[in-house]
Amino acid sequence: MSLLTVEELDAGYGDLQILDDVDLTVDAGEYVTIVGPNGAGKSTAMKSVFGLTDHMGGSVRFDGVDITDDNPEDIIRKGLSYVPQNENVFPSLSVEENLRMGAYILDSVPSSALDAVYDRFPILRERRDQRAGTMSGGQQQMLAMGRALMLEPELLLLDEPSAGLAPDLVDEMFDKIDEINATGTSILMVEQNAKTALRRCDRGYVLAQGQNRYVDEGDALLDDEDVRREFLGG
Ligand SMILES: Nc1ncnc2c1ncn2[C@@H]1O[C@H](COP(=O)(O)OP(=O)(O)O)[C@@H](O)[C@H]1O
Ligand SMILES: [Mg+2]
Repeated sequence: MSLLTVEELDAGYGDLQILDDVDLTVDAGEYVTIVGPNGAGKSTAMKSVFGLTDHMGGSVRFDGVDITDDNPEDIIRKGLSYVPQNENVFPSLSVEENLRMGAYILDSVPSSALDAVYDRFPILRERRDQRAGTMSGGQQQMLAMGRALMLEPELLLLDEPSAGLAPDLVDEMFDKIDEINATGTSILMVEQNAKTALRRCDRGYVLAQGQNRYVDEGDALLDDEDVRREFLGG
């Protein structure tokens, strides 16, 4: 049984349907990437898993439990964290306040979780009192990931973690994601940096116009001539 199972999902916003019969699985410990053109519905798929869209059909199960109609707060409690593509930190709060907000759902924030995030991202420890909005894009992205890790999720959803980062920071970000995955956290990631993402992940999905187009091991998708021509720029 997979950790996450999305079956024949139809979802969108109000009456506007974006996803059409989308299937998606993530096994325990697996690192899965979704790639595809702009507007394909990648972010919508992530939001749908996290209870942030309107569902018109199909199902989402996590750890064997149906979460199709759960709200994000219930979903977080079940062990799933989500880093949105945009506006994923509170700019006027300090780094540490942001991290504590990540665990607001708990009665008290476990200091072990805070230490673990600081060990993973030493720059956040150095800057714990700095306002998040005054940090660089890369540091804010690390903070957003740190915040999502405060609840020690089983599955981490990452929407375009490398967007807007300088090239050397892109590699550092992907290294961090590998490290997080190596500790046993499953990853479902959307990336526009498709080749790098497919090289790094275990398995990938190509989504286009709200539908599944290809699914295979990341390396197999990279080697597939049709995928390369249609989606990876040759
Ligand atoms: N909040 C929203 N309300 C209405 N339509 C939306 C909303 N967010 C995204 N869309 C539409 O859904 C489609 C898919 O968008 P999105 O999932 O963001 O694509 P991707 O992440 O693959 O670039 C686009 O046509 C977009 O305009
Ligand atoms: Mg998107």
